[in-house]
Amino acid sequence: MIRLEDIQVTFNPGTILENRALKGVNLEVPEHQFLTVIGSNGAGKSTLLGAVTGETPMVGGRVLIDDMDVTRQTVDQRANQCARVFQDPLAGTCGDLSIEENMALATCVVKSVAGACRCRVNVASCSKSVSAF
Ligand SMILES: Nc1ncnc2c1ncn2[C@@H]1O[C@H](COP(=O)(O)OP(=O)(O)OP(=O)(O)O)[C@@H](O)[C@H]1O
Ligand SMILES: [Mg+2]
Repeated sequence: MIRLEDIQVTFNPGTILENRALKGVNLEVPEHQFLTVIGSNGAGKSTLLGAVTGETPMVGGRVLIDDMDVTRQTVDQRANQCARVFQDPLAGTCGDLSIEENMALATCVVKSVAGACRCRVNVASCSKSVSAF
């Protein structure tokens, strides 16, 4: 389960470039459910995902994964609970693999941390992703 409580993200706060990208987002994704976030360019989809994974600094709100408050955890600390496939193919996504296989890699990372990787993707075919692990 993922729960977002009043998520707020402001880029370049206090400057002429200040941009309040997320102004209090509340969201709950129960276990085993899928969620598709749809929005126009610049709506805040990537920012929202970055808030979940810890890559995007928040100025307010809380992120809970399986009832654990991970708001103050770093990306590395959250890596055993959440993973992502990046939109930018140069930011960690393996171009030799399909989108599904790339998603499976993320699952593999999570399961690997838990000590029981059942990922069937041949990660050896993607040296870039393997080295990123
Ligand atoms: N690192 C950043 N620094 C400053 N502003 C940013 C940064 N990242 C995103 N923004 C701004 O935050 C807002 C949300 O951007 P975001 O990338 O989350 O949108 P998106 O919905 O993912 O768009 P796209 O469909 O193009 O991927 C936009 O106004 C964007 O310009
Ligand atoms: Mg985006």
